[in-house]
Amino acid sequence: MFNIFKKKYDDSLNLSFLEVDMHSHLLPGLDDGLEVMEQTIAFAKEMKQLGYKKFICTPHILPDVHDNSPETILPRLEEVRKALKENEIDIEIDAAAEYMVGPELHETILKGGKLLTFGNNYILIEMSYAAPSQNIVQVIFDLKIKGYRPILAHPERYNYYLGNNEIYEDFIARGCLLQVNLLSLTGFYGKPVQKAAEYLVKNKLVSFIGTDMHHLGHLNMTKQIATSINFHKMAKELDLKNKFL
Ligand SMILES: [Fe+2]
Repeated sequence: MFNIFKKKYDDSLNLSFLEVDMHSHLLPGLDDGLEVMEQTIAFAKEMKQLGYKKFICTPHILPDVHDNSPETILPRLEEVRKALKENEIDIEIDAAAEYMVGPELHETILKGGKLLTFGNNYILIEMSYAAPSQNIVQVIFDLKIKGYRPILAHPERYNYYLGNNEIYEDFIARGCLLQVNLLSLTGFYGKPVQKAAEYLVKNKLVSFIGTDMHHLGHLNMTKQIATSINFHKMAKELDLKNKFL
């Protein structure tokens, strides 16, 4: 256990070494994240304060729940860029999506539909917390065939994988990179999730760390971990790809 909250804090520490956050729900009014533009402006200031030079918003695309698409996400991104400029907040913002792996995503991949990516063709995918997606292996395979580079969001949060650590290496062997949530390392989602996150970190299976920020509770906890000396020691051992985005 890293016992992040039993270690000292240093107020001068921030998350600038990560440079880019690649998982957040900070575009307003699109999913279960922020609701209005004023919040987005306030959170953008906070992200800058945390040391990020860029953040990539990844609204959920989950049919019938969060019916997003490039047509809903990209215009909202432009509105936010305009608002940040008007408010003189100097932080780069981009957007992609967090795709729920299911039949709809598979169909879009197979028919060559537009998918929102970031960096060098990375695509963020997630599964339900209740059960793994039945087509996860095929979706990863077909994404790879089409030239995409899948990243599985928060593998440590899928309870059905807890205690089955081999599964994480299996994803990597299939060409799917792993993104751990910053707050998973604090115990925010519970001890078993923290343990899984620590396993991923200790075994250097993590390619990206993301905030997965949705609301003020996440922001406040993120601020705490940002100043944890222990977190910094641990994260700096990792070969993270955030800064290349
Ligand atoms: Fe998310």
